[in-house]
Amino acid sequence: MEELFDFQKANSQRFLDELLDLLRIPSVSADSNFKDDVLKTAKFIKDKLIDAGADNVEICPTDGYPIVYGDKIIDPNLPTVCVYGHYDVQPPDPLDLWDSGPFDPVIKKTDLHPQGAIFARGSCDDKGQMYMHIKAFESMIANNSLPCNVKFMIEGEEEVGSPSLGPFIRANADKFACDVILVSDTGMIANDVPSVTSGLRGLSYVEVEVTGPNRDLHSGIYGGAVANPINVLSKMIASLHDDNGHITIDGFYDDVEVVSDEERSEMNKAPFSLEDYKSHLDIEAVQGELGYTTLERTSIRPTLDVNGIWGGYIGEGAKTVLPSKAYAKISMRLVPNQGAQKITELFQKHFEKIAPASVKVKVTPHHGGEPVVTPTNGIAYQAADKAYQATFGKKAIPQRSGGSIPIVAMFEEVLGVKTILMGFGLDSDAIHSPNEHFGLFNYYKGIETIPYFYKYFADLSQK
Ligand code: BES
Ligand code: MN
Ligand code: MN
Repeated sequence: MEELFDFQKANSQRFLDELLDLLRIPSVSADSNFKDDVLKTAKFIKDKLIDAGADNVEICPTDGYPIVYGDKIIDPNLPTVCVYGHYDVQPPDPLDLWDSGPFDPVIKKTDLHPQGAIFARGSCDDKGQMYMHIKAFESMIANNSLPCNVKFMIEGEEEVGSPSLGPFIRANADKFACDVILVSDTGMIANDVPSVTSGLRGLSYVEVEVTGPNRDLHSGIYGGAVANPINVLSKMIASLHDDNGHITIDGFYDDVEVVSDEERSEMNKAPFSLEDYKSHLDIEAVQGELGYTTLERTSIRPTLDVNGIWGGYIGEGAKTVLPSKAYAKISMRLVPNQGAQKITELFQKHFEKIAPASVKVKVTPHHGGEPVVTPTNGIAYQAADKAYQATFGKKAIPQRSGGSIPIVAMFEEVLGVKTILMGFGLDSDAIHSPNEHFGLFNYYKGIETIPYFYKYFADLSQK
């Protein structure tokens, strides 16, 4: 391991420069204007996998953006780690809230990142974290110290719900045969508190359309007598939570896993300061479901949030109009054992039921994904824990995350393989927001820690 670190130290500037180049390509999967850039990013990853020493590197076409594959099979009798990551990013807007260009990475110090952080869209989610794996792999190859087989599965559609990866792994299950899937696309508790993400929430995402009259009307001539779809939609949305913060959709909680009191008290021992949490967000008070702590509300409890709402006149000045239509995008985060499809159907039924006769409603489902809990007792967890002990000098804390990576449930369903989520970002790194960043400490610590995971996973597999 000593030699491996020497190699990493000697190459640290290049490791950073390459990541900065990767961050300069605007691989926004949601916006077709960026199509050429997304494809260029796949090519970049392919080239870097080849340079790092991977074999069988290819850009696998799909109906959407391609999946970059590469592997190194040193001995079929050894275990195989399959690394999953994504090279696409979220749209950067609102652009005016960035302090520097989203695709012009700059390094700046922050309170939580005194050694500096890279500010750019995708720096943390997930280009920076995915690239740590390619550099860790390169280091192991360069030092002839790769202790097991590796496969890379890097996709370009995670931020739009991975529509092509599911069918691709179903059709190519043999290609991805492995013993564990290793993912760095989540966070850790703090730079001195390493943690393994032990669960992810699922997702049901819908768009609703409320239609009142067949055209926009003069709000003076008709106002008061004809339903205003924005007023109606607002009231419908408000009714989706009761005063205790419970979701009012019939059957919504039916399948929710009941977490034992012991587990809940264990969970609440994780380092967390409500005061810091509030002050980082500039809020006076938190809000959520009665009877649960902030840590529980963002991990073991399901939620419903409006992500966007629009309709009517939003231009300059005032226009007196009673709009014909109003819209909203609504996401529900799901916990074990809720099913995305079932929740979407319950939402649809409920939304149609509560609509007054004065409007028509249409509910269109978007992508979804199932929740997952990853084991904290298997060898993958032990290997990760030992890896963190080696580089942070501390045992890892298992913590369920509130975010979603829908493909993780598919890995288990289709490949029958469990995932280990070794995230190196911080919740405060502003992923999906303006000024997303990723600590240099986190980037290099990831590159350092990953080879230990390989080593311990290979060791523990032999036993
Ligand atoms: N990497 C995130 C998920 C994440 C972030 C999980 C931090 C845990 C901690 C991923 O790229 C993501 O943004 N997922 C989306 C869902 C997807 C279907 C668009 C999400 O969670 O909103
Ligand atoms: Mn991600
Ligand atoms: Mn994301």
